[in-house]
Amino acid sequence: MQHQRNNTILLPGFVDLHVHFREPGFSYKETIATGSTAALRGGYIAVVTMPNLKPAPDSLLNLQQQLDLIKLHAQLPVIPTGSITMGQLGAGELSCMEEMAPHVCGFSDDGVGVNDAALMKEAMLRAKKLGKPIIAHCEDLSFGDAHNSASEYKALERDLQLAAQTGCHYHVCHVSAKESVELIRQAKKDGVAVTAETAPHYLVLCDADVLPGDGNYKMNPPIRGKADQTALLEGLIDGTIDCIATDHAPHTAQDKLNGCPGLVGLETAFPVLYTKLVREGVLTLDHLVNAMAHNPRELLKRWTSRVFGGSVLWDIQTPYVIDPNSFATMGHATPFAGWEVFGQCLN
Ligand code: DOR
Repeated sequence: MQHQRNNTILLPGFVDLHVHFREPGFSYKETIATGSTAALRGGYIAVVTMPNLKPAPDSLLNLQQQLDLIKLHAQLPVIPTGSITMGQLGAGELSCMEEMAPHVCGFSDDGVGVNDAALMKEAMLRAKKLGKPIIAHCEDLSFGDAHNSASEYKALERDLQLAAQTGCHYHVCHVSAKESVELIRQAKKDGVAVTAETAPHYLVLCDADVLPGDGNYKMNPPIRGKADQTALLEGLIDGTIDCIATDHAPHTAQDKLNGCPGLVGLETAFPVLYTKLVREGVLTLDHLVNAMAHNPRELLKRWTSRVFGGSVLWDIQTPYVIDPNSFATMGHATPFAGWEVFGQCLN
């Protein structure tokens, strides 16, 4: 599938199903121009943005602000996600899903869980009618704080039952817990229309690596134990986890000091995963390319009827050190600063 010559390798361009570009509303953290430039530098050919914006994309009128900015500034295809609820509050009224459907890849309240089962069921029924997925940030804090895995997998367990009842395509964001991997594995066996993504930091780090109080390790959901990391890798290998998405979430240095959760990831995803997992024999390059390119391309095609293609040339032989000051993204928070990696995008 890949062509290799000298120091370089041609790989299919990646698709990231989960990024936060901060416009409209938070241009001081990231713009569509800077975020999409970072994506190009990371070897991506298309990205999907999450809806925690101001205004939230909860109606065509509000979504139009984001669509206009994308048209003006995007350096590659940027496909928005509409919010599930009005104001992306995780509660209250459902958004104007029907009028947004032609312009979005699906619906999500990323950052907040939808904890009212009846509301989530109604959202799934409407999304199914529109041929769109519900893209879920699973977090129900009634089961414990975010550090307690139950806050993720209990919310997931309920949603899988709703997805089975409604037939809605249900896509799970940033899976981080071993129990979640097992629930998704079983649901797939049972024929539920579920797909899942995890993020690079959950695959190459575990809680023993986290420097407490250091914002470069602070994201939501948090990095969990070694057994969770192992389960995520197993899930990726056996196809339970379909995609690796970065959850690229830029914040200013001051916002990070104030405790905002989120890391940047677009410019480090492939080099970190290739160096730590492929070169060290944990995953094959095919596993990685499936999870970063083929599988997310296929999902995006299913959800938008648009086909994204193209290849990217990489130098995978010349090591370099990750330096956040060289990033195109406005965010600098990463646990990978100073890592020596292989995988320089020659775009
Ligand atoms: O760490 C996170 N940052 N998790 C989220 O769910 C939201 C994101 C953000 O928007 O910064």
